[in-house]
Amino acid sequence: MSEVAEQTVVSQAAVRAQAAGRVFRTPVGEVHACRAVTLEAHAGELVVVRGPSGSGKTTLLNLLGGLDRPTSGRVELAGTDTAHASEETLLALRRDTVGFVFQSFGLLPVLTAVENVEVPLRIRRTDADERARRVAEALEAVGLADHGRQRPDELSGGQQQRVAIARALVAEPALLIADEPTGQLDSRTAAAVMDLIVEIVHTRGIAAVVATHDPLLVERADRVVALHDGAAVAER
Ligand SMILES: Nc1ncnc2c1ncn2[C@@H]1O[C@H](COP(=O)(O)OP(=O)(O)O)[C@@H](O)[C@H]1O
Ligand SMILES: [Mg+2]
Repeated sequence: MSEVAEQTVVSQAAVRAQAAGRVFRTPVGEVHACRAVTLEAHAGELVVVRGPSGSGKTTLLNLLGGLDRPTSGRVELAGTDTAHASEETLLALRRDTVGFVFQSFGLLPVLTAVENVEVPLRIRRTDADERARRVAEALEAVGLADHGRQRPDELSGGQQQRVAIARALVAEPALLIADEPTGQLDSRTAAAVMDLIVEIVHTRGIAAVVATHDPLLVERADRVVALHDGAAVAER
């Protein structure tokens, strides 16, 4: 990449929401799950979204990661307005820009750790040598270099979430979206997974938006957004 191109990438927010809103229309009326939320996440920045259950964390993260589109306001993912992008463009944008980590890990049970981590690279048709190199690097980065041949049910919850993190990182996304990534882990394992996320954000210069109740991560965030009934109150 040329120096000019590199600077452009660094100065642009990985994701930016401007007064982004999401209304769900249900048989019993409208649900304003996200109300005029404005936030940005830049390279190397950890943004924590907190708030009680039902406050709109998942809705907001889905908008930021391009899994869903705002019904008002704007979300720009890598500079592209998601509300007006085609399905194909949005799919490509997610594939090329975002790594996702979920509370329930989301690993494919019949695949080994290596095969799970490989999935994003297979989708991109990365060749076998390059794939093997990058999967090994990603598993090493999450401390699972020796567990590549194990299937999810042969791994602990914390190890499964590390595999999911390796999978989210293997294609070098600009943005990591993690929705309550430690929600199913005991507090000690959760702390180790949070440490890993913080380390990854800072050493790899990835922008991360993490929904969590965990006070330890809130403390270490560069920016904290508290949600109440879908509306954001910036705390830091
Ligand atoms: N697909 C949907 N259809 C209707 N209502 C929804 C949908 N998704 C979320 N909601 C509602 O939006 C609100 C926010 O939900 P959510 O974003 O899941 O909150 P959180 O992740 O903070 O628990 C809740 O009232 C929830 O019931
Ligand atoms: Mg949620």
